[in-house]
Amino acid sequence: MGKYLTLDDVDVAGRRVLIRADLNVPIAGGAVADDFRIRASLPTIVRLREAGATVVVCSHLGRPKDREPEFAMGPVADRLAEVGGFPVRKLDAVVGPEVEVAVEAAAPGEVLLLENTRFELGEKKNDPDLARGFAALADVFVLDAFGSAHRAHASTVGVADHVQSVAGPLLVQEVEGIGSLLADPPHPFTVVLGGAKVSDKLGVIKSLLPKVDMMLIGGGMCFTLLEAEGYEVGSSLVEEDRLEEVRGVLASGYGDRIGLPDDIAVADRFAADAERRVVARDAIPGDWMGLDIGPDTARAFAAAIRGSRAVFWNGPMGVFEWERFREGTDQVARALTDHAGYTVVGGGDSVAALRLLGLESEVSHLSTGGGAGLEMLEGKTLPGLAALEKWAEN
Ligand code: 3PG
Repeated sequence: MGKYLTLDDVDVAGRRVLIRADLNVPIAGGAVADDFRIRASLPTIVRLREAGATVVVCSHLGRPKDREPEFAMGPVADRLAEVGGFPVRKLDAVVGPEVEVAVEAAAPGEVLLLENTRFELGEKKNDPDLARGFAALADVFVLDAFGSAHRAHASTVGVADHVQSVAGPLLVQEVEGIGSLLADPPHPFTVVLGGAKVSDKLGVIKSLLPKVDMMLIGGGMCFTLLEAEGYEVGSSLVEEDRLEEVRGVLASGYGDRIGLPDDIAVADRFAADAERRVVARDAIPGDWMGLDIGPDTARAFAAAIRGSRAVFWNGPMGVFEWERFREGTDQVARALTDHAGYTVVGGGDSVAALRLLGLESEVSHLSTGGGAGLEMLEGKTLPGLAALEKWAEN
């Protein structure tokens, strides 16, 4: 998993500390629509404030092409101040002389938030000048953005070349939470995967299958697997270009660990008020589409989850945002949260589903990572973590 220093190894009192957090949250109508990542980042910010550091926080927000105002950090600053109960000074730039002056002038314990790191073109290119610009703001850099640790960008990786860099508490908690599941899971170990696209999860499927006892697959992605098994799936979402690879997985020595839905909730169109029917998986009507697992499957998945000692869940079982197609996700979430074993939930949608159901505090580890968690589960080294290693060796 690599070695890194943590906040326990550095003195921060009276020093400038730059935290790269993942405050990439959904924005709707100019306000933060879900503050899970802000709340998850808060303990690190509070700890550094209370330790007497000048706290400079940065993050990307969305995927801006340029400096579009809808990607500016104002709403994030407002929500951070609200949930933190302390003032947050939002700066209008990411790096540069004005930012440096503002940071120098700030008092210990003050919190400043930089503008969206992706407003700098060098961010995604890991431009060394931009990395130096970040480093100029800090005596210590804290990478706490687990959700962005799979990105080799200037604010996650490059900056660590120029200033002493440590792993933040949230990053450590995430790496250990997911890492312990990977290293030595209690058995039976069940993985539940959903979400729209199988292409996003094939790497994880392949790398986890040898470790699990069962892999239950729902969501839009299950239709590519069902079609690969020879079922007619109507107008459900299918990634034709992945069928061959999926067939290979199903035919592998581990294929029988995969559990697919027996029944499906289908819709006559992709709409919240579409007509809903439950059909067997071999009876999906030609012009209907599967938008949720069916009730028998939901019960079977829930029973399998309850009978496991460790469960990892990523991806909803259906279009849970629409009440008519929420039942499968709801059942999986409830089984998981009244489960006594070790439970890890990752991915924005699964976390959002748990929050919608008010169950987010009921799992062992709720991850802030989407793609980062998946890459870790694939066994890949996260570049953000790798960049911290040199500081542990010195
Ligand atoms: C995420 O939401 O998974 C992270 O914040 C990374 O965002 P990105 O996929 O735009 O790099």
